[in-house]
Amino acid sequence: MANVYITRMIPQEIIDSLRASHTVEVNPEDRALTREELLRQVRGRDAVITLLTDTIDGEALDAAGPQCRIFANYAVGFNNFDVAAATQRGVIMTNTPGVLDEATATHAWSLLLAAARRIPESERYLRAGLWRGWAPMDFLGQDVDHMTLGIAGLGRIGSQFARKAAAFDMKVIYTDVKPVPEFERQYGATFVDKATLLGEADFLSLHLALTPETRHYIGAAELAAMKPTAVLINAGRGPLVDEQALVAALRNKVIWSAGLDVFEDEPRLAAGLAELDNVVIVPHIASATFRTRLAMGKIAVDNVLSVLRGERPLTCVNPGVLK
Ligand code: GLV
Ligand code: GLV
Repeated sequence: MANVYITRMIPQEIIDSLRASHTVEVNPEDRALTREELLRQVRGRDAVITLLTDTIDGEALDAAGPQCRIFANYAVGFNNFDVAAATQRGVIMTNTPGVLDEATATHAWSLLLAAARRIPESERYLRAGLWRGWAPMDFLGQDVDHMTLGIAGLGRIGSQFARKAAAFDMKVIYTDVKPVPEFERQYGATFVDKATLLGEADFLSLHLALTPETRHYIGAAELAAMKPTAVLINAGRGPLVDEQALVAALRNKVIWSAGLDVFEDEPRLAAGLAELDNVVIVPHIASATFRTRLAMGKIAVDNVLSVLRGERPLTCVNPGVLK
């Protein structure tokens, strides 16, 4: 029986499936662990299931100790992991790709439609008792049908997002490290450079992994290069966007609106963001469906069980360590 720690409550049946064969301890508090608690709680564990809010670096790996075999992230993004530090210590790191692509892509569409048609803003107005009846010029928004959809990052989530654009007969342009010809054939998307993407997109959605190179992929200069009618969507990682620059751009109508699931310094919002009417903001919930969160848990547990049996995990982010 190995000793497994889970840094926060995840679906109970997932925890039970681990308890069948191992000793499992779960953070009993309904909050993320503090840094000190994390360093204390990982000590002596054989496997740890972590959240995207837990920073697992050299210090945390050393705190866990040399017996620890795996850190399994309950997320597809793993910018909270120092992968090189884990590889150096022979520790396996895993994530939960695939199972959340559709939920996340659909959520990005929810933000897009909500921002385009001013759903939260007009709902606030209605709930505040301000509505005096149908009016020709109230809450005019942007058309989605037949417009140009720009996608930065045509990976698993980006391509699911792009696929759904067919329902609105949109022109799809995208950029990535290299073109994806098969996707272009199948969905009629066109590969463009970043400048073209910024200049032509009516809606621009970010689906890039957060790396030092993609940090502030959208800053003041990029926002200025976008159409004044454009809508920016981010359901990737907050630091892809310079949030303070976005607040200024939304306030000055440099772009028309934005839909954000993620923020630069979660759970804090940039000063002024929450006061703006032309932004839809939700608290990092793109993968938050009952089915998706269960599926993510199953992958995390499968990874832990495989590694504890001495087998290869399904979704390793540092496969070099397996050789
Ligand atoms: C959520 O943001 C994830 O990376 O799974
Ligand atoms: C709107 O409700 C319309 O009938 O045009």
